Amino acid sequence: MPSFRRWGQSRLERKPESSFKFLAAVLVITFYLLIKEVQHPTEHVPFTAPRGAKIQHAQWRGTGNGHETRADSVKEAMQYTFRKYRENAWGFDDIRPVSGDPATSRNGWGAFIVDSASTLALMGLWDELSHSIEHILGIDFDVTEDLVDPFETTIRHLGGLLSLVDLYDAGLIPKHILHEEARDLILEHAVTLAQKLAPAYDTPTGMPWPRVDFDTEQGEPSPTFVFSDDPSKREYEHPVIGPARTGSSILENRVLTRLTGDAVYTKNSTLAWAPLVWTKWTTPWPGMADAPIDIMTGAPVARSRHWDRGHSSYYEYLFKITLLAPPTDPHLGLYKKRFLDSAYSLREHLSSRSAPTPKHTMQHLFIGRQDDKQFQNQQGHLACFAPGTILLAAKYYDQPSLRTFALALLEGCRHVYTSTPTNIGPETWSWTPNNSYSKPLFSPKSSRHEHEWTKTGFWSTQPAYKGRPEYVESLFYAWRITGEQRYRDWAWDAFTAMEKHCKAPFGYAQLADVWNEGEGNWVDTQESFWAAETLKYLWLTFTDVDTASLDTWVFSTEGHPFRMIR
Ligand SMILES: *[C@@H]1O[C@H](CO)[C@@H](O)[C@H](O)[C@H]1NC(C)=O
Ligand SMILES: *[C@@H]1O[C@H](CO)[C@@H](O)[C@H](O)[C@H]1NC(C)=O
Repeated sequence: MPSFRRWGQSRLERKPESSFKFLAAVLVITFYLLIKEVQHPTEHVPFTAPRGAKIQHAQWRGTGNGHETRADSVKEAMQYTFRKYRENAWGFDDIRPVSGDPATSRNGWGAFIVDSASTLALMGLWDELSHSIEHILGIDFDVTEDLVDPFETTIRHLGGLLSLVDLYDAGLIPKHILHEEARDLILEHAVTLAQKLAPAYDTPTGMPWPRVDFDTEQGEPSPTFVFSDDPSKREYEHPVIGPARTGSSILENRVLTRLTGDAVYTKNSTLAWAPLVWTKWTTPWPGMADAPIDIMTGAPVARSRHWDRGHSSYYEYLFKITLLAPPTDPHLGLYKKRFLDSAYSLREHLSSRSAPTPKHTMQHLFIGRQDDKQFQNQQGHLACFAPGTILLAAKYYDQPSLRTFALALLEGCRHVYTSTPTNIGPETWSWTPNNSYSKPLFSPKSSRHEHEWTKTGFWSTQPAYKGRPEYVESLFYAWRITGEQRYRDWAWDAFTAMEKHCKAPFGYAQLADVWNEGEGNWVDTQESFWAAETLKYLWLTFTDVDTASLDTWVFSTEGHPFRMIR
């Protein structure tokens, strides 16, 4: 206060004229506000959190830092992928990248087209995108010959459609590519699809059926579930589900609720994961879900506990929902607690340093799994998503020790990539735990395992590469959050390796064996996540850092960006 008075006095003394103008202006404004208040009484203003979040590297301001030649190389890989599909398999779910044959793997609606559209939009590939939009507007989601998997369909199709609407609303898709009516039709499509998926949620707990029959509009158990009156013939009494399948629809459904105003989508997704989040079955490790879970009772029926395949995206969404939900969401405090508990449990109970070998003295941090009482010293490529999600949460919740943990895990994923002759990491691998007091579950079983282990400190238990994104996804987060150039260089190493070994006559093939540099290594499969995620994250790592900034966008588990609006 005193300093304000001094300032006022000196201004008065120095410039009486301007201070008169100032006072007059204040009077005019006050008078105007009084009139306005009488005309439009101010409503109660609800609390609104600031838009966006401060996640990206703090030293960056706005745009810049693009490595355009590298970004363009990735864009060319996307154009090649798209062109080959368009020429040879248009309208089918996928193309076989070696033979060029079309493949129907996901209900025949053209999964590739729906899943890759948000990548085309971010890259500004408008010709490709208009072609895709034309197809998307013509999809009939009522018609399919196969059972529908609500999890895959939510993350790939529903997420892909909603992301297009969000990208359009944010002004990132020009109106001559997607006009207002087409945008509305895409949203209508999303609603139709969500309505077709609705029978999934018809269970006593609200946990989804693993499949839905679109003809009968009934939920179904997974195709491997055995029905029998004889308990000795069946594994479980009722259909069961894993954490990822039941806990990875809340982002998509939150966005659908925001865009339509219909709360049912968020409500159903909240019920679907409630038995994991509000669990009354105490697990020995805070925050970690035991699985699988009986969809009729919500009770875990076995003790599989990890962040790997089948569980991973539940933990991912447990954090990411915090960035998408309105700040008034009453559950945010609990989500935070559950996420942090589970991340610290992961570090405490499942992370494991590899023991040195005669030829490889460096040690690496990996994450294993727990099954009943046994620790399994095996990690899958899918679990390489964890460094990215944990880094994001560590930044948002300000947890420096989780950041250190995440970067160490990322180095582990990097190590399995750079150790193989193709410079690409395997689908699953094992190591000898340095901290093991009992005999580890997996040990090298062949001379090949022995050889790999001695040389690198791990051996591949499934040596394939399936075009998966998780490692480059985590590199994208590491680059955007830390601003350290090396993560971008690692991403470039991964991209050049994929370009060299996976590029096939009709797309990008999967590899049978990442230890095989020679011929005959291609697998004739290209999943839609190659275009939806792997190429998207690589491109985003090299392009301008303001493109799909982590301060304003949240990426779904299929790599579809949603607006952070609060
Ligand atoms: C929501 O869940 C209820 C069951 O609780 C189900 O009957 C309804 O069809 C679902 N609606 C949607 C849109 O998912
Ligand atoms: C664990 O690593 C240290 C070196 O950091 C080594 O001395 C020790 O023998 C290792 N223990 C096991 C069980 O491999």
